[in-house]
Amino acid sequence: MAKKVSVFSSKDELLDQALQLILETAQSSIQKRGLFTLALAGGSTPQPLYKKLSQTNQAWEHWHIFWGDERFVPSTHLDSNERMAREAWLNQVSIPPENIHALDTNFDTPKDAAAANESKLKAFWNLESGQWPSLDLVLLGMGDDGHTASLFPGTEALQVCDHWVTVGNKDDNPRLTLTIPLFNNAQTIALLVTGGNKNAVLKEILMNESGTVKYPVELIHPQGELLWMLDASAGRDLI
Ligand code: 6PG
Repeated sequence: MAKKVSVFSSKDELLDQALQLILETAQSSIQKRGLFTLALAGGSTPQPLYKKLSQTNQAWEHWHIFWGDERFVPSTHLDSNERMAREAWLNQVSIPPENIHALDTNFDTPKDAAAANESKLKAFWNLESGQWPSLDLVLLGMGDDGHTASLFPGTEALQVCDHWVTVGNKDDNPRLTLTIPLFNNAQTIALLVTGGNKNAVLKEILMNESGTVKYPVELIHPQGELLWMLDASAGRDLI
């Protein structure tokens, strides 16, 4: 895995660069294999990026959209990552509905939802038993506690290595999340991190040469590239 840390002068410049990364990865994936598989981050950082995507013209029929995690709320709920991405981007472009693989939360329990969504993803990827899908590009964020997706410090989700989807927990609020091994089988992962409140944890992580793992995001090691994309306040004094 190659790691690259970039600090951009503003959040808007970071997101413009992230847009270029997405479009370039899409073009090369579609050229190579006829489709582009992209997993979206939730939270507030990526929303303007999804807006930028809605203003471009792509071969959307070759794009397949996934989510790295989802809050255990209806897709109409204000906290829904699916709702945020659909409103900012997906409702504005002609990606075929069947290419949008949202994490469905319409189940009695988060556990049932995780199992059902895993089956749905396995049906789409249609791999041999024991094989893991390799997403072309994964977008992730990071919280100021070093969580990523819905993989929070000290939770069982961090240990799950035999499932594609599991239940995450943020302060007893259940979530659905792709698992560490699924993320790590991706070709490229871009960590989009903004805000001075994340600078201290970022310094600890990016200067950590001990090999020990303190934060969930330190478990993220894609097959190809890990791109840390920071704005000036998150990346202050880092390079
Ligand atoms: C979510 C995200 C979560 C997010 C981080 C950063 O569902 O909220 O998956 O991991 O990326 O909490 O959030 P911000 O981008 O809002 O700082």
